[in-house]
Amino acid sequence: MDKLTIRDLDVTGKQVFMRADFNVPLKDGVITNDARITAALPTINYLLDHGARLVLSSHLGRPANAPDPAYSLAPVAVRLGELLGKPVTFVPEAIGEQAAAARTAMKDGDVLLLENVRFYPGEKKNDPDFAKALLGDATLYVNDAFGTAHRAHASTEGVTHFAEKSAMGLLVERELEYLEGRLENPEHPFVVIMGGAKVSDKIEVLSKLMEKADTFLIGGAMANTFLAAQGYGLGASKIESDKLDLAREILADAQAHHVRFLLPADVRVAMKFEEGAPTVCTKPFAEGGRVPEGGMAIDIGDKAIEEFSQIVKSAKTVLWNGPMGVFEIDSFAKGTKEIAEALAASDAVSIVGGGDSVTAARKFNVQDQLSFCSTGGGASLELLEGKVLPGVGALTEK
Ligand code: 3PG
Repeated sequence: MDKLTIRDLDVTGKQVFMRADFNVPLKDGVITNDARITAALPTINYLLDHGARLVLSSHLGRPANAPDPAYSLAPVAVRLGELLGKPVTFVPEAIGEQAAAARTAMKDGDVLLLENVRFYPGEKKNDPDFAKALLGDATLYVNDAFGTAHRAHASTEGVTHFAEKSAMGLLVERELEYLEGRLENPEHPFVVIMGGAKVSDKIEVLSKLMEKADTFLIGGAMANTFLAAQGYGLGASKIESDKLDLAREILADAQAHHVRFLLPADVRVAMKFEEGAPTVCTKPFAEGGRVPEGGMAIDIGDKAIEEFSQIVKSAKTVLWNGPMGVFEIDSFAKGTKEIAEALAASDAVSIVGGGDSVTAARKFNVQDQLSFCSTGGGASLELLEGKVLPGVGALTEK
């Protein structure tokens, strides 16, 4: 897809309406992680440096289509101002007289942030009147909200029908370069590390990547479902018991594609789901190697860590999507930590496909040693599934 980027726009002296994804975690009104704000800075700075009058818009959280102070973007305006080193005017509405007046008062190089678009029912309904009001007097639209590009909402898709030109920002461009471009013809061996809770969430990604990958390394609770599908006793482990047939189909598909599909050689088992709980490694494939009654497989085991790490280290391209275990609890984090470290140590192009794996990469301080960490959760998954994201598909063709 050859879509306009901000480099194709003449923004000087023009009002530009830009959708960002400032959906940051907040605790008691304080931003606990500003990664999504910093990720938008290159595009914001580019537009301001080129003399745009920049109107920023975003959602935050999932308010009930009505104003809710808990989801206000006001703290984001403050943080953005600190990062930019210049004032960011915050308007406590997304559309209306106050927003219009603030927008009219802007000068070249000014930036303002509108209130949460999800305070209005028209946003998620992709209501054309709401989209038109959001765009206001702006003729140019920029979408840099990669994390929300899989949503066909008024601020991500609807506005493009009214703007003269709609272009992607630098973040969206970079996300597409890594999650689409680099995986189109990956350098081999191409290894996919797949984890997380549910097989059902990853089914489309798995079958799409089956066409390209040489090896899959499976961890997390989804590995339990594959192990259970092969008849291994998993005790009280989390499994999707209604997805055992699906798991068997995926295993057969991997065989048909001559793809190595590795389940953990051993799993780490705890009898209690709590920090500090003692753990032991159990080999489900060994004779009598079943998870004891009441035991839970909460991570990949030491043998699996060793095997997976070796494979990661000799890969040329690695895509990582989903943690290997319950990494939020330190006693259950070893698998995810060591695989993250193996990835950081490898010379491979290392791409982390958003959500929990990025949180894990950050927790284990390897983020800077990886080639790319996506800012999208659902959006990165849909892209990896080969879908066209509505927020990208709607942009103007070059
Ligand atoms: C995300 O955090 O995944 C994006 O900001 C999208 O949020 P949503 O799932 O509430 O649409």
